[in-house]
Amino acid sequence: MYADNAKAAARAPLTVPRLRQMKADRERIAALTAYDASFARALEAAGVDLVLVGDSLGMVVQGKASTIPVTVDEIVYHTACVAAGMQTPLLVADMPFQSYATPDRALDAAARMLAEGGASMVKLEGAGALLDSIRFLSERDIPVCAHLGLTPQSVLRLGGYKVQGREAAAAERLRADARAVQDAGADLLVLECVPSALAAQVTDELAIPTIGIGAGPGCDGQILVLHDMLGINSGHRRPRFVRDFLADGGSIAGALEAYVRAVKSGEFPTAEHGYQ
Ligand code: KIV
Repeated sequence: MYADNAKAAARAPLTVPRLRQMKADRERIAALTAYDASFARALEAAGVDLVLVGDSLGMVVQGKASTIPVTVDEIVYHTACVAAGMQTPLLVADMPFQSYATPDRALDAAARMLAEGGASMVKLEGAGALLDSIRFLSERDIPVCAHLGLTPQSVLRLGGYKVQGREAAAAERLRADARAVQDAGADLLVLECVPSALAAQVTDELAIPTIGIGAGPGCDGQILVLHDMLGINSGHRRPRFVRDFLADGGSIAGALEAYVRAVKSGEFPTAEHGYQ
């Protein structure tokens, strides 16, 4: 174990109740994605609170055009890799496309992510018909992170990766969905690509913490895709909500530490990283 990881391991593992306490204490949650043990170790050493094994792995690791082809087996495999590299950050596994379309399917997939992958929470996109799956998991003591706004698994219906909730009716729907996922038992909510004012309003209205990505400075925490914040963007144009921390930090360890520092201090994200 490296010295920085020994220091990190001396911290208590982040728990679901502690996440709520962080919101109450206005302590910002620094989150990143990871897909392997080496980066998991580096994230823990830098003080990252929460690590998501995102289905973004389909795009940034596998080179696919969307997250839709990612499978439960792949998420379980990468979650186990990440779990092997770290002890204290809260480990969240992303539920792949249609793996939570019914409560029974969701339970099968989520149980594997916890038992085989070592995750402490699963994340799923959407509300509406999926509230039953959130409730089913939560009532069986599986912590759930909901995900609203731009939900990449819906890209075929949305027609692209676009900001969501700009029109008044869509904003009202998003606020109602946020309350509904909380009422169904979600412990955490990711808000992706929604106007900053709307994300701040949802954050104020909920008891559970919110983690933003392209949602401005008003959320309880922030997440970025690891490859994006290291400037490895596979030739895609960098979205406005991404900052290249490797350019600022000089090394991978420096970039990760700069990210945690910037999120914790409120220096990132600022209004310029959000949408109106
Ligand atoms: O898959 C992923 O990495 C995600 C984050 C962008 C929140 O869902």
